[in-house]
Order: sequence, then C-alpha cells, then structure tokens
Amino acid sequence: MERTLNTRIMKVPRIFLHGGDYNPDQWLDRPDVLREDIRLMHLAGINAVSVGIFAWARLEPEEGRYDFAWLDEIVDRLRENGIGIVLATPSGARPAWMAQRYPEVLRCNERFERMHFGERHNHCLTSPVYREKVRQMDTELARHYAGRSPVLLWHIGNEFGGDCRCPLCTQAFREWLMDKYGTLEELNRRWWTGFWSQRYTEWSQIEPPSPMGEVSNPSMQLDWRRFETCQCASFIRMEREAVQAVMPEVPVTTNLMERFSDYDYFTLAREIDVVSWDSYPTWGSGDDLALAANVAMQHDLMRSLKRKPFFLMESTPSLVNWKPHNKLKRPGMHLLSSMQAVAHGSQSVMMFQWRKGRGGSEAFHGAVVSHDGRSDTRVFRDVAEVGQVLTNIQPVLDARNQAQVLILFDYENLWALEKVQAAQMGNMRYIDTVLLFYRSLWERGIAVDFADMENACPEKYRVVIAPMLFMFRGGIEEKLRRFTEQGGTLVTTFFSGIVDADHLTFLGDAPHGLTEVLGLRAEETDALYPGETNELVLDGQRLCLRELCELPREVTAEVVGRYGRDFYAGLPALTRNACGLGTAWYLAGKPDQEGVDAVMDRILAETDLPRADAGVEHRTGVVVTVRGDYLFVQNYSGEPQQVRINGPMWDLVGQRTVEGECRMPANGIMILKEERG
Ligand code: GLA
Ligand code: ZN
Repeated sequence: MERTLNTRIMKVPRIFLHGGDYNPDQWLDRPDVLREDIRLMHLAGINAVSVGIFAWARLEPEEGRYDFAWLDEIVDRLRENGIGIVLATPSGARPAWMAQRYPEVLRCNERFERMHFGERHNHCLTSPVYREKVRQMDTELARHYAGRSPVLLWHIGNEFGGDCRCPLCTQAFREWLMDKYGTLEELNRRWWTGFWSQRYTEWSQIEPPSPMGEVSNPSMQLDWRRFETCQCASFIRMEREAVQAVMPEVPVTTNLMERFSDYDYFTLAREIDVVSWDSYPTWGSGDDLALAANVAMQHDLMRSLKRKPFFLMESTPSLVNWKPHNKLKRPGMHLLSSMQAVAHGSQSVMMFQWRKGRGGSEAFHGAVVSHDGRSDTRVFRDVAEVGQVLTNIQPVLDARNQAQVLILFDYENLWALEKVQAAQMGNMRYIDTVLLFYRSLWERGIAVDFADMENACPEKYRVVIAPMLFMFRGGIEEKLRRFTEQGGTLVTTFFSGIVDADHLTFLGDAPHGLTEVLGLRAEETDALYPGETNELVLDGQRLCLRELCELPREVTAEVVGRYGRDFYAGLPALTRNACGLGTAWYLAGKPDQEGVDAVMDRILAETDLPRADAGVEHRTGVVVTVRGDYLFVQNYSGEPQQVRINGPMWDLVGQRTVEGECRMPANGIMILKEERG
C-alpha cells in the first residue's frame, strides 16, 4: 500500500537526542569494553546512539545467513539502560562476498572502469542485485527488531553521494531521458545538439557525461544530475518502504552533507521523514565568525528542506582526521557549536564517534571515549557538559524558528553555474554569493528560511533575496513579480534570469521577465581578474567589487549606487525600483562582505524586520539567533566579550538571571529567555 509522507503518523521523539555513532561491531571480542560503554554513556549524558551503520559483514556474514545475535545483546543492553536506538540500514558499505559474487554491485568510475571491492559507498544505486540485497537486509532487520526493541529513528545508509557509470546506469539514464523527452527530436532540440555535431540518432548513442566522452554539454550535465538525484531518491524510497512496511510508525532519515551538490537535497528530502546532517567545520582556523556564518547557513538550509526541525547527526567532540590539519576544538567550542545547531532548529547533538577504534582509518578521529578509556578527559567533560545543557533546555524543543526573509537557494541553479562556461570559468561561487547575503542577516540577528524555485512561497515572507539566479525555472519570475507588486521587498543580483531549465538562454532582455519589475535591463557582464577590483559608490562610501560586474542599461529605477571605475564608471550598480506596492532592488556588481552589509543595511532600513539582538548590545563577533522565545547569544570572536542585556533574562546555560553588563568568555554561549514577573 502506498502511503504518502503527510498522512503517516510519525513518532519523532520529543527529547533532545544526545549521542552518536556507536560501533560495537568492532569490539565483539571485548565484552568488558561493551559493558564499560554503558557506564560511560551514563556519565556523558548520552540518551541515543546510532548502531549498525557499517555492520553488513557482521549482520549477513554469508549470503542469506543473517546473524542478529550480537546486535541483540547490544540493543537489549541499551534498552535496559534507557538509551534510545537510531537503527541504521547497513547499505553504506557492502560485504566482500557480495562484491565478489555480484560484481555489478560495484560502481564504475567516470572513466567507465569497474571499481574493485574496498572502501565504502562504493556501490551502484541502479543495480537490481544491490537493491534486492539491501531490501532483503532491511526487511530482515526491521522484522527482527519490531517488537523486540523500540527504534527512535531509521538511519538509511550513510552520506549518499557519488556517481556510477556502469552499463546498468547508462541504460537507466537513457530510459530516464526517453521518459522525459519522449522523442530524440525533442532531446536534440532541448540539448541544443546542433552544436559541434552532437546530434543523436539512436538512444543507444547517449552515454553519461565523462571526460572520456561528452563533458561540456550543459543541458546534458543538468539532466545527469537530475537523473542521479532520481536514482538516489528511489533508492532511499526503496529502503524506507522496506523498513516502514514492518515499522510504519518509525520515522526515517538519512544523513546529508554540507555544501554538497551531487543531488538535489530538496528532492531527496521528500523521501525521508526528517532531515539530518553531518557538520565538520574547521573551527579555530583563523576566522570562526565567518565559519560560523557558513555553518549557520547550512543549518538553516537543512531546516528549510522540510520546513521543520532537523537532527544534527554527526559532529566531532574534538577533531577529525581527514583534513590536512586536524586541530582540536578549543575550550567552549563543543558546547557553542552544539548549541548553534539547536539555535537553528536541531533536535539533537549527535557525534561521530562514541569510541575510537584501535584500527581502521578512523582510529585517530575524535571520539567521546579515547584509547585511554577514561572519563576524566577534557573531551569527555565537554561532551558531558553538552548532555547536561540539553537536559536544562528541554523546553526549547517546542520553540519554532520563524523567518520573514526568504533566500532562494536552488540546486539546479547551482549545477548550472558549476558547469557554465562563462564569466568566471568553473568558479562562479554561487554558494559563497548566497553566503554573503545570509551572513549579513545572520550577524544582524535576522532569521532566514531557504527554498528552491520549485518550492518557494514568496508570499509568506516580507523580503525575498534571489542571489545570482542564473537559471529561472518553475515560473519563478512570475512569483517574484507578484510578490513585489503585492508589497514585498525583492533583492536580485548580477547574472540572473539568463537560462531556462534546459540551460537554453532566454531570448530577449535579462533578467528574464523581470526587467519591468527592476526598471532596467542587464546588457553585459564583465569578469574581473583575481585581485582586480571595481567600486560601488554608495552614500559616499567606496565599496570594493570583485569577480563580476554587470552593466545595466535603460535604467528607469532609482539609482542608489554607481560604479566607481573603468569604462562603466558612473553606471548604476545598485538600484531600487518601486513596483506595485513593493520594491525591487538590483545589485549589479559583486561586493565583499563589507559591501553586502552596507547594501543590506540600506535595504533593511526600509523594512522593520524584527532583530533577535534587539535586547542585547554587543560587538562584532557576538551573534544572537532566535528560536521561538529563546535568544542564543554566541561569541565567535575568539576572545572574551562584554555584552549588555537590556532587562532581566534567565540564562538556561548558566542557570542564572542575567541583566546589564555581562562578560562572555571566548566561545561563550548563553540561551536567554525573558523573565516574566
Ligand atoms: C562522515 C561519515 C562518518 C565518519 C565521519 C568522520 O561524516 O558519515 O562515518 O567517517 O565522516 O568525520
Ligand atoms: Zn551503476
């Protein structure tokens, strides 16, 4: 029976989960260690662990012979000790016997070569054998644990990513294209194959994009990403259906990643009940404030994928082991970064990993319990502190993040910009451009939601920012026009409204469909060399512009700022156009953060958006984020800071009343709620 996600009743647990990846399968010969784990988990305030993520070789040691006995023991002990279970399907890594017997489960790389057994995530998502093996495994797992142990959440696979170019995927791609285009004629037209004699006369001539063959047709590249998204989505759906056929009430998730563009996460999110993600920022690398802005943006994006709270599924309690330089988290940073996730809507602080293994490539990755097995370490105390704070902030769980600003962030636009051969080749920096706007708002304590062009409901917001929307799809120009006419504030930029969803350029003036709304047309785009700058002259300030400068013509909009240099000095660089009841802004050149801040100050001065930091006076480096009635005051400046709290507030972290001058340590965090009389 097909059930839609909306009608299923999901019991997402109503507590903050605190725990992480637990791999007892690496310690089965050490029952003493496994017993000790439970004692230590209590000490660290752990209430949930993810088990079985890479346990396939233990769960099905040979084909068709399942062994759950070892996991039963673990699961029973966790249950008896009140520790919740996030149960993983082991599809993130397949056992050696399977790769040996069924080579088709292994991936082919971008040179069409079959990979060998090894590593993880190295499997074909199309292979019917792999899908069937996973389905059987998931079904067995669900049947075995239904009734035996409560499961909080299903953790489907692990960090889905990467492409396969095997014959099965190639064939599936062709079928996907047939389905989409119907005829080759239509495909040839929409892929613009008149170029370089690319015209296809048989479906079988089409191969996945590859450096061995066709790599520069942007329309094909887009379809390949859409196809890969579709394969991944249907794989996750298959897994979800397998486990929920047995445990319909248990929600499923899969752990997503930061700045990851293999798949359209808005599409994948439809296949899961709750979004979760893995966050590994390089704290302490010089500018924690900039880094925190990026992480905050990822959190808000994750919350926006389903417009509801998410889970932080992985983070490190101390360091990672896969960056060139693996720095320790500085004192306070584990609590601060964990609470940052909560501020943006997380329901959990989960970590990778509970205990360091003795071998394997992750033996030196941070963990709650290190090789010394001790609980009196700095890291262990940091983790226990987070456990304690999560207990103290339980009421925050019911507080919702609410935003009046929408930033459009669109994966198809991202793919298009990644591949387009124009302006700044291979370096259009879409995510960084979005981040410039995001950071301005975040530092000003203004909450933001994200949406893609398909899911966007601009009418629910007062301000919509559409940075660098190179592709217009799903009638976005109409939505934006209506939004502005009805009183909204629209902010657009350079390089917008140029191609359609097929990556074919619009014919006519750019930005497509918005020239009247903006009161101008964008005629040419100049690329600046690295280090080269122009200027945005705004209210007497000269703000640096880099990378891209677009030249608007026929400007009927009010000119707010002008270019300072080059042959286009004096041309409008920031404009404001009254349109219906609203206002449409256009920023022609790409400023640094300082410039975007100045532009946003100018724009925001005309709105009266609520600011979370209204009651807290602070200097740069301290950021205030709001979740419901709670203010998260976070110090990313790397040094102690004085802040001023206007009116008595209760600090849930310090468990005290704060008012007036307050000293925050470096990496300090307060979670404040107004004290009511
Ligand atoms: C990823 C994976 C984990 C682990 C961590 C290490 O997020 O999902 O299995 O490898 O990285 O940081
Ligand atoms: Zn394949």
